This record gives sequence, C-alpha cells and structure tokens, in this order.
Amino acid sequence: MGVTILAIESSCDETAAAVCTDGAILSNIIASQAVHEQYGGVVPELASRAHMQHIVPVVDQAIKAANIGLSDLNAIAFTKAPGLIGSLLVGTQFAKSLSLSLQIPLIGVHHMQAHVLANLIPTHQPSFPFLCLTVSGGHTQIVLAKSPLDLTVIGETIDDAAGEAFDKTAKLLGLPYPGGPLIDQYAKQGDPLKFKFAEPQIPDLNFSFSGLKTSVLYFLQKQTPEFIASNLADLCASVQHTIVQILLKKLVKAVNQTNVKQVCIAGGVSANSGLRNGLLALGAKKGWEVFIPDFSYCTDNAAMIAITGYHKFLQQQFESLSVNPSARAEW
Ligand code: KG4
Ligand code: ZN
Repeated sequence: MGVTILAIESSCDETAAAVCTDGAILSNIIASQAVHEQYGGVVPELASRAHMQHIVPVVDQAIKAANIGLSDLNAIAFTKAPGLIGSLLVGTQFAKSLSLSLQIPLIGVHHMQAHVLANLIPTHQPSFPFLCLTVSGGHTQIVLAKSPLDLTVIGETIDDAAGEAFDKTAKLLGLPYPGGPLIDQYAKQGDPLKFKFAEPQIPDLNFSFSGLKTSVLYFLQKQTPEFIASNLADLCASVQHTIVQILLKKLVKAVNQTNVKQVCIAGGVSANSGLRNGLLALGAKKGWEVFIPDFSYCTDNAAMIAITGYHKFLQQQFESLSVNPSARAEW
C-alpha cells in the first residue's frame, strides 16, 4: 500500500482539499470565496467565516472524488503559514482534529514552499537543482531548489508583490478585484509598447513594484476617464509588459549567477499569459528548460500542499499537535 495524504489549504480566500497517493494527485477540490469582490480585496473576518462553512463539504468532496475512505489516510497535511491568521486557524484546527481522531501524523506545510513544489505534480517535471519564480498576491521570490525540502530564497520583493502590482494598477484603471486576471484578458487586445512605465533599478535578485504603481498613478491622474476607457487594452498590455519584463530580467540574472538552467514558475501570477509566453520565448532563446504548471496548480490549491506533505512524510517531518499558526513558520 502507498502513502495516502489528505491536504488542506485555507491560508487566504480559497478553501481547498486534495488527496494524493505516493505523490500522485487523486483529487483536488477548491471553493473560492466570491464574498470579497464587493469590497475590492479580501476581508479577513469574512474569509475565516467562509472557510468554516466550506471546509467540511470541501474535504468530503476531496475524499469522495479520490474514491477512498478516511481509514485509507496515512497523514493529514495542512498549510501552517504564511497567510491570514483567522483563515489559517480554521484549516489548522480542522487538520489537527482529524489527525487526532484518526490517530495519524499531522504535517505542517509552508504555503510558499508548496507553490514551488507544485512543479513536481505534472509528469513533465524538473529534476534538481531548479530555479522557481514564485509570484503570488503576497510574495515574489526566486527560489533555488536543491531537493524537495532544500529550498533557498535567493531574491524577493522589497515592497509590493507582483500580484499586488497587477491588482493595484487594475484598481487604478477602474477594474474590480482581483484585477490581475482582468489585466491579462484586456492585454490580449492591447499594444504592450504603447505606454512606458517606470522600471525599478534594484540591485541583486530583489524586486520592487511600488514605483511602477506610482508611475501608473501619476500617468492616469493626467488623463481623462474617456482616454482611460478608450485605451484600456493598451494600458493593460503596457502594465503587464512592464511587470513581466521586471520579472524576466531578474530570472536571467538568477540563471547567470547560479548556472541552473531549469526554470519553473509558480503562484497565482504564473497564470498570467504574458508571463507564461514571455518565459517560454526567453527559455527557447537562452536554451533553458522551462516548466509551467497547469493553471489549477498555479493559483492557491491543496494539491501543492499534498505533494509537499508527501515529501515531508518521506522525511518523517511531522508536526506536534500544539502547532501554532501565528508562530513564524520554518520551511
Ligand atoms: O497564489 P495566489 O492564488 O494567492 C496568493 O497566495 O496570493 O495569487 C493570487 C494573485 C492575485 O494577485 C491575482 O490577481 C494574481 O495572482 N493572478 C493573476 C492572474 N491570475 C491570478 N495576475 C495576472 N494575470 C493572471 N492571469
Ligand atoms: Zn498562494
């Protein structure tokens, strides 16, 4: 019999559960929370309440879709950090209770480590070492992965994350939250070189996106609403192009510094078609091997928690039942 793990993700505004056996994903269920749209961002208290409503049916569905019973489980993995404290607590308490009642080990997973290891889900996957550009709503990192559990952050944002840059500029353009996917959609019909926005000059492998937001803000303040509406596609394409260039330039630097030529992307922003196409073109030009997970494994999901949980299970890295999600999490 293989190792079967139930994984739970509840760090932000998706309640998700997945089951994997020996690293193969058997089910992957996600309930997204539409309640935040009207507020233009995630409202932490509403997120926790929605997790409480969703967690039992989502886990139930994941178990049924995997065609297993609770007695088949060998461990429970869950996202221990980082994330919204109230949201994390719902998943943590649920995972703890289930592990206690089934008398099976509990595995705490770092959400950002899981985004990187989402690249180990598809059959076409990188070997070690590889580089991963993890770009989400809260993080922007370049990670050097030497083995599943040996991950080092070699560059990261010093202010906003790439997802925030998308969402905040989208808001300035009058688009609803989350604006990242909408910028992507409008950008498809736009000219990426029509407008020029500031690109930061940050040393090393670190990123900065706050200057871009200010540059877009100052530009838009000088325009009429009619101009913005009639140039929306070009504005979106130009913003997207600037963000993608900032990301790709640092990736080139990271490959040059490490001489690692297997390059992956992860996190919600890796669903962006400009980034995906840009990375594929760059990889072909530079002779890199590029790995891009399916959309469903890019944005928050529990399959990535399951695969990370599986590798931690193999190393017997279990959590004590006194796990506290407000404590600083180790990878
Ligand atoms: O990884 P994720 O699902 O959640 C976090 O852990 O933050 O990332 C969410 C972020 C949001 O900022 C969202 O706007 C962005 O990913 N995003 C996109 C696209 N799809 C999601 N940004 C640009 N283009 C997309 N297609
Ligand atoms: Zn995430």
